[in-house]
Amino acid sequence: MIAIGCDHGGLELKNAIVAHLKEQNVEFHDFGIYENHSVDYPEIAKMVCDSVVSGEAKLGILCCGTGIGMSMAANKIKGIRAAACSETFSAKYTRLHNNANVLCLGGRVIGSGVANEMVDLFLNTEFEGGRHEKRVQMISDLENA
Ligand code: RB5
Repeated sequence: MIAIGCDHGGLELKNAIVAHLKEQNVEFHDFGIYENHSVDYPEIAKMVCDSVVSGEAKLGILCCGTGIGMSMAANKIKGIRAAACSETFSAKYTRLHNNANVLCLGGRVIGSGVANEMVDLFLNTEFEGGRHEKRVQMISDLENA
């Protein structure tokens, strides 16, 4: 299961991704927002990230205007490795090398075509482990310091 959420800056993009997930028969939990009204993105980031940390969701997707505010908020939550990406290479390699568990996208930065390609790569790429294992562990160590 995938957790997804957005603020008003990412609503249109989130709706396009939700339609894409439905087409691909990917099971997801949409934490909103569902209509265009102003919200504070850290609240949405927390709901989606809690779902990932609890194990309810395997991975999360967060959309705001830039993807940056969502990633900043998400990365404050223990156990979250959120990556704000704007192109496919990063969306793939942040899974392979960083074991990212939340993808953050900017609705005012990218279009739905590239976003959906990024989502597919992010959801279908597994962590490579090996030499990256130690480095990701070092990130967790920083979190616990
Ligand atoms: C909301 O206007 C905007 O600040 C937010 O969506 C996001 O871009 C923050 O990083």
